[in-house]
Amino acid sequence: MISFKSSSDKSKAKSKVKEIAKIPSKLDSYKIEETIGEGTYGKVKLATHIKLNEKVAIKFIDKKKLTNKGDDERMKNEISIITQLNHPNILKAFEVFEDETNYYIVMERPIRGDLFNYICSKGRLSMDEACFIFYQIVNGIQYLHNNKIVHRDMKPENIMLTQDMIVKIGDFGLSKYYKSEEVKLKTNCGSPCYSAPEVLRGNRYKPKPVDIWGLGIILYCMICGELPFEDDKEDILIRKVTLCKYTCPLFVTDIFKNLFKKILCPNPKERITIEQIKMNCIYNIGRSNFYKYFKIYGDDGDM
Ligand SMILES: Nc1ncnc2c1ncn2[C@@H]1O[C@H](COP(=O)(O)OP(=O)(O)OP(=O)(O)O)[C@@H](O)[C@H]1O
Ligand SMILES: [Mg+2]
Repeated sequence: MISFKSSSDKSKAKSKVKEIAKIPSKLDSYKIEETIGEGTYGKVKLATHIKLNEKVAIKFIDKKKLTNKGDDERMKNEISIITQLNHPNILKAFEVFEDETNYYIVMERPIRGDLFNYICSKGRLSMDEACFIFYQIVNGIQYLHNNKIVHRDMKPENIMLTQDMIVKIGDFGLSKYYKSEEVKLKTNCGSPCYSAPEVLRGNRYKPKPVDIWGLGIILYCMICGELPFEDDKEDILIRKVTLCKYTCPLFVTDIFKNLFKKILCPNPKERITIEQIKMNCIYNIGRSNFYKYFKIYGDDGDM
C-alpha cells in the first residue's frame, strides 16, 4: 500500500486560489511545460506560475474546436461549475481566462495524474486502496448532488489523485445543474462503456442514478482491473450494458459482488442511492482507512 502523510490539502488549495486570483491573468504569467492530458477540445498542460513558483495544470480549450451546436454552452457550463465548487474531493480551478485562440482553465495539479493510468500501472488495486478511493469519490459525488449538479461523465480518466491519494473529481464538461431530483434529462453523454442503461436507451433519465452507475463502473475497474462491459462493436456493447451482462473474476469477494449488483442495477429506480452506499461496509472500510491517515473533512465526518 502507498505511504500516506498528514495533509492540509484543503487550506493549502484555498490559499493558492486566493494568491493566484490576486495577480492579473494571462498566459505569460505561466511557464508552459509538457502535455499531461488530452481531451476532446484541447490539451491539458503542466505549467508553473512564474511569480508564485506554483505548479498548476492548464486546460487549453481550442476555440476552433467549439464548432458543434451546444459546444459553447457546454464550455461555459464547465467553467461556471468548476469555479464555484469547493470540496476536498473536487478539482479546484484557480482562474479562467481567454485569448483569441483558447479558453484557459488553470487548475490544481494532482501529481499522480488520473485514476485510469494509476489502475493501469498496478493492474488492479488492493481492496483497502479501492475502498479508500471509493469513499472519497462517494463524498465528492454527494457534494455535487447536494449542490444540484450531476457530473454525467464519471470514469477513472476524470478522477485525479494527489501525492497523498486524495481524490479530486474533475472534467465538468458534461455536468449540468438540475432544478429538482425529479427532473428528467435527455442528453446522451459519455462513452457507452461508462454510461447507464437508461442513458443508452435514449430515454429521459433522472440525474443522480447516472452518477451512481458511473461510480459502480469505477469501483469494478479498481477491483477487477478491467471494465465490466466491453466490446469492439458498439451495438453489442450497448446490449451488454442495457441487459447488465457482466461477470466478475473469481478472486472478487462477496462483499464487492453484492455492491456491484446493487450499483450496476439496470433499473434506475431500484439502483442503490448515495445514502444507502454510505451504510455499506465498503464505504465504511474506506472511511475508517481514511481516518487513520487524514482529517480533512468536517467534524461530522463528511463535508
Ligand atoms: N488538473 C489536472 N491535473 C492533472 N491532470 C489533469 C488535470 N485535468 C485533466 N488532466 C488530465 O487530462 C485528461 C483530459 O482532461 P479532461 O478530462 O478535463 O478533458 P476533456 O476534454 O473533457 O476530456 P474528455 O472529453 O476526453 O473527457 C484527464 O483525463 C487527465 O488525465
Ligand atoms: Mg475527461
